[in-house]
Amino acid sequence: MGTQPLSRAIDVDVDYYQQMYDPAWAEQSPRPQTKKARKKPPKTQQIVAELTDETVGLEGGFETTYRPGEFEGVWLLDSLRGFYDRDLLSDILAVVKGGKEANVYRCAGGPGAHAELVAAKVYRPRSLRNLRNDKMYREGRQVLTGDGKAVKNNDHRIMRALNKKTAFGQQVAHTSWLMYEYTTLERLHQAGASVPRPIAVDGNAILMQYFGDRMVAAPTLHEIRLEPQAARRLLDQVVFNLELMLASDMIHGDLSAYNILYWADEMTIIDFPQVTNAKGNSNARFILSRDVRRVCEYFQLQGVNANPRALADHLWQRFQERSANDILADLSRTLETFDQDDV
Ligand SMILES: Nc1ncnc2c1ncn2[C@@H]1O[C@H](COP(=O)(O)OP(=O)(O)OP(=O)(O)O)[C@@H](O)[C@H]1O
Ligand SMILES: [Mg+2]
Repeated sequence: MGTQPLSRAIDVDVDYYQQMYDPAWAEQSPRPQTKKARKKPPKTQQIVAELTDETVGLEGGFETTYRPGEFEGVWLLDSLRGFYDRDLLSDILAVVKGGKEANVYRCAGGPGAHAELVAAKVYRPRSLRNLRNDKMYREGRQVLTGDGKAVKNNDHRIMRALNKKTAFGQQVAHTSWLMYEYTTLERLHQAGASVPRPIAVDGNAILMQYFGDRMVAAPTLHEIRLEPQAARRLLDQVVFNLELMLASDMIHGDLSAYNILYWADEMTIIDFPQVTNAKGNSNARFILSRDVRRVCEYFQLQGVNANPRALADHLWQRFQERSANDILADLSRTLETFDQDDV
């Protein structure tokens, strides 16, 4: 992780920093000059000079078409430089959207990405993120490290840091959050689900397939209206994907028309850090029903006669039947082994 210099700067002045790199704020014209902002320039320049000194990518020729603000630039280049060095990304073209937790950028893919355009989801620095209350989703989920492996429950140092929410603990939680998003994309993409193809992950960012073209990114379903027939077809696709996820014991956890992209008549589900373990989480049934309800609310507005309760019941019942069958199959395999040992 190369975020050390950034966190130091954040300690200095969080509010000012947040204003400076937030694209939504940056688009406003003329820029509102808060009292605080006016007071800061000398110190700010000093911080930027210090940061850029340590930002090898800037000196190493990572020139970008997109012109980020000073602070955003440091954070952005620091987060994406690894992809650039690995030839997965050759340019940052534009900001697609600034979400609660991350900004997504349209980028030009490098030779290793096998795509002309790629999307980079860059998480905000830890202390600037609008932290979700993730307790409900963490139940039944192991903590993941940067290489996607689970931290052992008997690793007391990490467990203590997590419980006490020390800076190190928060960093571990952040990495786990990011790795859940990435490994979920990997598993679901492999299973044939309609999710972006994951390309690479680094300490603070995910690189994935981009939906849209050079001018505009794909809208979310929330931004568009559909004819009832097209809507019916898409709802069927969403349900198919929910089943695929459940077949891998996963529930999205934050599904709604805001997290489904629509491009070239197809839909793609995004934004997976809250993915929930359907088997190990006592809230699984509730979380699934909430996902289904939110999706149905959108499709009802598009003229589809969707019954969220019946759909959630159906999905959950099928999941449970399959789980029961899995347990029986495991049991009979174990018994077979015993029989063979007897012989
Ligand atoms: N692969 C992609 N291709 C094109 N656009 C994308 C892609 N991934 C995300 N986006 C855009 O970026 C936005 C933010 O992405 P995402 O939902 O993953 O992040 P987030 O920070 O969790 O957002 P929010 O807090 O708004 O849910 C999306 O609403 C979508 O408009
Ligand atoms: Mg989202």
